[in-house]
Parts: sequence; structure tokens; C-alpha cells
Amino acid sequence: MRLSTSLLTAATLLSPATAQLDKLAKQAGLKYFGAATDTPGQRERAPYAASYTQYDAILKSPDEFGQTTPTNGMKWLFTEPQPGLFNFTEGDYVADLAGTTRKLLRCHALVWHNQLAPWVDAANATWTKETLSAAITRHIRAVAGYYRGRCYAWDVVNEALDEDGTYRKSLFYNVLGEEYIKLAFRTAAEVDPGAALYYNDYGIERPASVKTAGAIRLIKMLKDAGIRIDGVGLQAHLHADVHPSEADLVATGQQFSELVREVAFTELDVRIEMPVNDTNLAWQTDAYQAVVGACIKVKKCVGITLWDFYDPFSWVPDVFAGQGAALLWFADFSKHPAYDGMVQTFKKLAGERKKKDCKKKRRAIRG
Ligand code: G3I
Repeated sequence: MRLSTSLLTAATLLSPATAQLDKLAKQAGLKYFGAATDTPGQRERAPYAASYTQYDAILKSPDEFGQTTPTNGMKWLFTEPQPGLFNFTEGDYVADLAGTTRKLLRCHALVWHNQLAPWVDAANATWTKETLSAAITRHIRAVAGYYRGRCYAWDVVNEALDEDGTYRKSLFYNVLGEEYIKLAFRTAAEVDPGAALYYNDYGIERPASVKTAGAIRLIKMLKDAGIRIDGVGLQAHLHADVHPSEADLVATGQQFSELVREVAFTELDVRIEMPVNDTNLAWQTDAYQAVVGACIKVKKCVGITLWDFYDPFSWVPDVFAGQGAALLWFADFSKHPAYDGMVQTFKKLAGERKKKDCKKKRRAIRG
């Protein structure tokens, strides 16, 4: 594709040494730059077993990624496959990796309408307010309890809103109304007091969107009820052609900052209409740079997580026909131009920050 085999091998061997996204993010004032990952053997990885060694070297490189999230392993489907029977094998794979490589762990996701265990869906017609509340409580107590002390943050409720900003008519909502959101946050707060508790959603990146307004209403609803919510996760599954500008992302981040302690970009990827070409790769670079710039400029933005980093392991092509190349490493492990684009943005803004700090210090010395 773009590199000869020998050059590619050299580039790949070098990549952990040149890894720098987390290091630069920290220099620019963020807590982390991370990448989500999945358990080997899951579908996206299956045809690529030969690439695991190179993949793992990049994933584990401390200066590249200072944080990780399990893309699937902590979801209800895997953690409570039978009522009251818990299995942490999939989640542990990523939690242990975070531990051994000293990365922050974002835990994902306690209550989500998708990837529910089949028994939860199967009982759809028979749930009552009491039985469903008890099932949610048991699930959160067991899962958040098992990982207590290891999660920097929990996505407590995921994607509770429809595109128009009203509550999604999920199984949880249909039985319990917004009470299920309160119950989830209340229970998570009891079980893991040290984890930052997040509401996480997609499509809430633009300041004037009805869905962003819906997320603001949801947060206020919790706060009015005296329930702790610490953060908002802007998933940021973006499209290269029509992505939000840095100014938009800053404005949205500031709106949320008025309500919560922290904001994060939790599932960043930027998909392209295939095939890739110089134009769509340049648009993609702009989008990634906009996110980096916004996270640095929004004081409460703690970090950025890519939703995996290697194109063959991305969820995008399975869901959006004809789209792909959403991450930072192509199948041959060469990097997208967006990687260098982000490096430049980090360096530029870290430099500006340093200058500001120096000025502040000088002013303080002068009195
Ligand atoms: O677990 C089975 C495996 O046993 C089987 O061999 C394989 C063969 O088809 O399928 C595996 O299940 C897949 C699962 O990922 C694990 O790889 C599902 O088919 C597939 O639909 C599922 O997709 C996940 C998707 O959530 C489900 O909606 C993606 O990997 C995951 O990246 C994606 O993540 C979500 C976030 O949690 C929330 N925000 C949106 C984001 C993207 O959809």
C-alpha cells in the first residue's frame, strides 16, 4: 500500500519508541490520551491474528496510550449472561492489561439498551417496576463492586437519549421511566465512591443540537434529585466530511462544564467514505485536530479515548456500509496523517500553555 515491506517492518519496530500521544497530551495539560481495546477472539480481530504482536506492542506502549477502555467485555451480555450469574473473564482481560501497563481504566457500560444479556430482553413483557429495579441494582452492585477501586471512571448510563433529545424508548425506560437513570447513578455511587460517574452518549458534540439539550436536561434532572454525576462522555463517532469544528466542540464542552466536574471524549473515531484519498484523509486530520484542540481548550476536559486504534478492529465497516479507515493505524500498521496532525496540535498548544505559565510566573514574581 504505502510502504514497502522492509520499510514497514522498520517503521513498526520503531513505533513504540516514537509513541507519543499520551506523553504529549499530558504536556498539554490533559490527564490521558487512550485507546479502547477488545478481547482477542472477538469478531473484529478474528481474521487478523497475525497482527496481534504488532498491535499489542502499540497498545501497551506507555507514551502512546495512558488509558484504555474495554470496547465490549464489561457489558451486560458478557458480565451477567444468566440472571445472577456473573462472568468477568472478558472485562478482566482489559482491566488486567490496564493494571500491568499502568494505564487508567475507563469502565464501560453499566446500563445500556444494547448488548444486553438475552435473558433481559427475553423477559421484556414480564418485567415490573420492582423486578427490573432489582435486576439493575443487582447488576450494578455485582459488576461495579467487582471492579471497585480499579475504574478511573464508569459509564453508568449509556445512550439513554433518542436523536431528538427525548428519552430513548428502551426496555428500561418503558418500564421505569427516568427512574432507571436515577437508580443506576445512585447505586453506582454507593458501590464505587472513588470512580467518576459518567453519562455517555453519541451525537452530543454540537452545542445547538437537540440531543445535546437532552443530555443537559438529563444531567440537571439527576442533580435536582441530589444524585451524583461527575462527568459527561462525548463519544465522538465522527464523519470526516461533516465533523463539528473545534469552536463547536469547545462551546459544547463549556456547556457541560457548567454542570459537571469533568468532560471527556470517550469513543473517538472519524470515519471516511471509502476508498481513502488525500482529500478525505485531510478532512479526517482536521476532525482529529479539532477534538484535540477542544479538549485542551475546555478546562474540564480530562482526556481523549480512541475507539480502538487499528482500522481492522474498528466497528465502523460492519455498521456503515462503504465507510471505514476511522482510526489512526491502517491495516499495514502505517499511520494515518491524522496521527501527525494531532502531534502538531498537541505540541502547538502545549507550547502556548508553557508561554502562558511563564508569563503568569513572571507576573507573580513582580507582584
Ligand atoms: O461476541 C460475539 C462473538 O462470540 C462472535 O464470534 C462474533 C461473530 O459475529 O460476534 C461477537 O459479537 C460482536 C461484538 O461486538 C463483540 O465483538 C457483535 O456481533 C457486534 O455487534 C458487537 O459490536 C460492538 C457494538 O458496540 C455493539 O453495538 C462493537 O464491537 C463495539 O465497538 C460497539 O461499541 C459501542 C459502544 O459500546 C457504545 N457506543 C457506540 C459504540 C459503537 O457501536
